Amino acid sequence: MDLKRRNFLGLTLLLLTPFSSKAALKDLIDVKTLKKRLTRKLSYQAYKTTTHEGAWSLTNIDGFIPDDIRGRFIKVGPGAKEVFTTPLQHYFDGDAYVSEFNFSENKIILRAFFLKTPQRLEEISQKKMLYDEFGTLSPYKKSKGRKNQPNINLIRWDESFLALSEGAHPLQLDNDTFDYKSTYDFNVTLPEKVSFTAHPKFDPDTKIGYCYGTYQGISKALNIFEMDPSTKKLKELYSLNQKHVYMIHDMLMTENFLIFIIPPAYFKLTDIILGKIPMAGALRFDKNEKTRILILSKNKKIPPIELTFPAHLVFHNGNAYEDNGKINIQTFLTKDETLLNLISNWQSNEEIIADLPKLHEIVIDLNTKKIDSIEEIISDHDFPVINEVFRSKKNQYLYATKMGNTHDPMAFNGISKINLFKKDSLFYPMKPEEVCGEVFFVTSNRDGQNEDSGYIAYQGNNASLDQGFLEFLNAKDLSFVGRVWADRYLPLGFHGHYFSN
Ligand SMILES: [Fe+2]
Repeated sequence: MDLKRRNFLGLTLLLLTPFSSKAALKDLIDVKTLKKRLTRKLSYQAYKTTTHEGAWSLTNIDGFIPDDIRGRFIKVGPGAKEVFTTPLQHYFDGDAYVSEFNFSENKIILRAFFLKTPQRLEEISQKKMLYDEFGTLSPYKKSKGRKNQPNINLIRWDESFLALSEGAHPLQLDNDTFDYKSTYDFNVTLPEKVSFTAHPKFDPDTKIGYCYGTYQGISKALNIFEMDPSTKKLKELYSLNQKHVYMIHDMLMTENFLIFIIPPAYFKLTDIILGKIPMAGALRFDKNEKTRILILSKNKKIPPIELTFPAHLVFHNGNAYEDNGKINIQTFLTKDETLLNLISNWQSNEEIIADLPKLHEIVIDLNTKKIDSIEEIISDHDFPVINEVFRSKKNQYLYATKMGNTHDPMAFNGISKINLFKKDSLFYPMKPEEVCGEVFFVTSNRDGQNEDSGYIAYQGNNASLDQGFLEFLNAKDLSFVGRVWADRYLPLGFHGHYFSN
């Protein structure tokens, strides 16, 4: 059968056959056919608005689901790209939407829904956009200020979930129902005007957490805390005044140190106050300033160390560890601010040229307090994930999603397993019509107790079927294990976690 004939047949069958057969037919669609069918970019198809809310039993499985997968895969991200009649502009905008794939003994249940935050309910009751989003202002003159939009990450804490917005305090949710309980201040230890990061780090042995936030006042201080798992309280370790409110999205941790890579990207607050522009519009990148590495002793016995290198932007880091008097840092750097332009205009069908994140390994000598080396390991990747048992320890492997082609960089098109010792990588490509999100690392002792013993799971979107799925790969060789189809579209979202039963 020639290619054209196959395509014709594939399309016809796709339209006529019942749902259960669609998965098997998806391979019959090639890129040319797909481009004709899609009027928007793949990335738009993967993050567009959803109207699906509910709970469903899933039975449409390719391959198999290993019987040691017993738990909840929970992810959060924007689920809507408009608030009533107001379209939302930015990749980060949109009400928080949670998807949970729950694997038990003999069933798989998908729950997916918008978080019922007080601000969302208020807007629904008044049928209009009352609050500003990160990249979109409310069209009304009497905006009620910026929405505390917890669409970036969810963590388990204090027998509940904390939904994190990065711009304000966490929102506490019921552990089972995800119902909103209250804003959360760690038993009155997170000061009122201090925001809370979307990327706290937890010591895998002590379970102690570390987090930070920016004081929203004149000092613009970076406040760094220890999170006590027994009292559920924060203990302030540092409060460091800053010149600007910097964009600090992620942090790193070693056995003895907390590390912040602070790019010269900051919010020009006067623009927000005077010009009435959204937060995203007030973000500036000063290429003449340096990127700073701040190394802070956990026990405060060593004075802070600050090192600099030429201006780079950074969103996500991998891992960091101490090794023979040196600190090894894995971080994703872009050389300029073009990535900010890309995520601000992600819905455009035009091609936007941007420098994409590149994994770098930075080695710092603790004796000389100097940077030994900065080495690029792999280009055009983001969303790094490690086996969390190796958090702050010497890790050989890091998993990351590969960004899309120049026409559509936000359509993540594959998963890489990066070997940091050998400086090489394995790659698992998506099908042309599919986009992947950040992976979950699931530990399993089925084939030993090595760093890469387990599974990689990732949520993906198939644009031709307009359907989401959760797929499992072997973490050792990225070979396919199984896929459960969601039977409906699910926005890909940003970050999440696997909680084993
Ligand atoms: Fe993030």
